[in-house]
Amino acid sequence: MTTTDNSGDVRLSGISKTYGSFTAVHPLDLTVPQGSFFALLGASGCGKTTTLRMIAGLEEPTLGTVHLGDQDVTHLPPYKRPVNTVFQSYALFPHLDIFENVAFGLRRRGIKSVKKQVEEMLELVQLGEQARKKPHQLSGGQQQRVAVARALINHPKVLLLDEPLGALDLKLRRQMQLELKRIQMEVGITFIHVTHDQEEAMTMADTVAVMNAGRVEQLGSPADLYENPQTTFVANFLGTSNLIEAEVDSTSGDDIVLKAGGGKLSLPSARCSAPAATGGKVLVGIRPEKISLTAAADAGEIPEGRNRITGRIVDSSFIGVSTQYVIDSPVCPEFEVYAQNIDRDARLVPGAEVVLHWNPAHTFGLDAAQDIDAGVETVEEEAA
Ligand SMILES: Nc1ncnc2c1ncn2[C@@H]1O[C@H](COP(=O)(O)OP(=O)(O)O)[C@@H](O)[C@H]1O
Ligand SMILES: [Mg+2]
Repeated sequence: MTTTDNSGDVRLSGISKTYGSFTAVHPLDLTVPQGSFFALLGASGCGKTTTLRMIAGLEEPTLGTVHLGDQDVTHLPPYKRPVNTVFQSYALFPHLDIFENVAFGLRRRGIKSVKKQVEEMLELVQLGEQARKKPHQLSGGQQQRVAVARALINHPKVLLLDEPLGALDLKLRRQMQLELKRIQMEVGITFIHVTHDQEEAMTMADTVAVMNAGRVEQLGSPADLYENPQTTFVANFLGTSNLIEAEVDSTSGDDIVLKAGGGKLSLPSARCSAPAATGGKVLVGIRPEKISLTAAADAGEIPEGRNRITGRIVDSSFIGVSTQYVIDSPVCPEFEVYAQNIDRDARLVPGAEVVLHWNPAHTFGLDAAQDIDAGVETVEEEAA
């Protein structure tokens, strides 16, 4: 094992996994820097677990190599890799108390004086008081923290977490997300966290890789993925996007002017990930919270230079901090708009004629050859 700073880097070079004629993971290049909190995000079946198992050594790649730091570990068995895994099922030993569950890895290596290390670990996961309880006497969240302590006591360079919070209810999951984030910052080792929950990935990770059908579609910081999606799948899978089919009218300076539903929209060229030749098609995207709503009667008050679309409110849901509107417009039958509840206009009710308008800088452009609904159903399935 090297002692250089990069010993916790994980580098995947062209790794793939096929089962017969089925490709679970297409050749994948990925570098996870030492000390980062990295999330693999995607719907069930997209290849997350397979990727994780190849890093752990539980699955042999069909092609490609796995490096940890400078070491090629592709052909090392799992127990010789400085990696530990935490699964959704905590797999604690039911007959051992919490202390002995955490001590297990040390005892197996023949280490006799375990007390100090175990106590430190239990402190880290805030279970010092629970040391003499049995697993069944703890809540799900506490049991998962024991599983984390049990993995970390081996001083891995990399901790792999495969949907570790999947069995917890929503409120506990939220607490544990923050808790795991704190633990990662405290120990400073590389965490690779697998989840199908986009909010979870965005809350926890420095970098998120969005996987779809065995491929990484896009990789970036949560804010970058959200603000600058490069594919319809990413635009729809991370939050909600309004996508409009538009035709390129002209290019003027740094902006592309598009025709959609009889009107014109402006898109910064730098925010268009598709070729934009005049007459060609582009999908124009805008996030629901970037849009303002103005009653049609007041349309004259909307400042110059904003993208605008007319429509009629078909549905509105008041959810406290915001109101979510669905709007029927010539460019999109179900345009979504989220308005913060600051000064509510009593005229904005179903049936009202409105103008939707936004700063063109928030618009993004995508390749129109893609499925406009990619990533949409997947989110609904997971929520069901
Ligand atoms: N041992 C196996 N044999 C055949 N197919 C497999 C095997 N393991 C996984 N798969 C398939 O590979 C795909 C990816 O699986 P997996 O990595 O578990 O997805 P995820 O963790 O993202 O839900 C799935 O279609 C799954 O059915
Ligand atoms: Mg899985």
